[in-house]
Amino acid sequence: MRILITAGPTREPIDPVRFIGNRSSGKMGYALAEASIEAGHEVILISGPVALTPPEKAEIIQVETALQMFEAVRDSINECDVAIFAAAVGDYRVESFSDSKMKKTGRTVTLTLVENPDILGSARGGFGFAGYLVGFAAETENVETNASEKLARKGCDLLIANDVSRKEIGFDSEQNEVTVFLKDRSPHSFPQESKKEVAKKLIDLIERSASV
Ligand code: PMT
Repeated sequence: MRILITAGPTREPIDPVRFIGNRSSGKMGYALAEASIEAGHEVILISGPVALTPPEKAEIIQVETALQMFEAVRDSINECDVAIFAAAVGDYRVESFSDSKMKKTGRTVTLTLVENPDILGSARGGFGFAGYLVGFAAETENVETNASEKLARKGCDLLIANDVSRKEIGFDSEQNEVTVFLKDRSPHSFPQESKKEVAKKLIDLIERSASV
């Protein structure tokens, strides 16, 4: 299969030296790319800024902002059989970017934020993707309810939820513990393991579910 994977954070610039970001390291997305390649698939890895070396055989597209990630996904998704959205995309960007470094003024500064497009939510209606669609849900509460709602609202075949309120799993950790939600089936939890092991199990599940 040809698999598109998004990974890492986005950076939403405030001025040439400052940005709004998040704690995603890219480890989960890169582990999924490696596991896909090891299982014999082709990978397009669309990555925000991370300190990781991409798997040699992946086609890598580097982006910084949510809008750049949106365009990269739009341009590649319909070449793929499966799309997996592991990136932590900034939901908001600064309305007006300052071309020069903002100076201290001694006064309170207010930034106006505008919503970024929902890339995963655009896959079906916006981009017309008809392949197997996999989303993640980073939740701090009501994991099951929020994940089931995201599965339906974003048109996913499979949604992988992680509880990012726990320090030892989720963002920027070596390990993860996920619960998978499939349409019309009860949720299934995987034990806490290295992101590499979790990725192998997820790719195995995606292979089996996408080919039926
Ligand atoms: O990179 P790591 O340090 O390994 O951490 C990544 C992770 C382990 C937390 C990863 O598993 C994860 O949960 N990634 C998704 C984080 C996230 O942004 O979740 P969300 O619930 O805010 O978004 C739901 C889904 O919509 C995600 O698939 C996300 O990629 C997608 N999305 C969100 C907003 C947006 N504007 N566009 C999107 O495509």
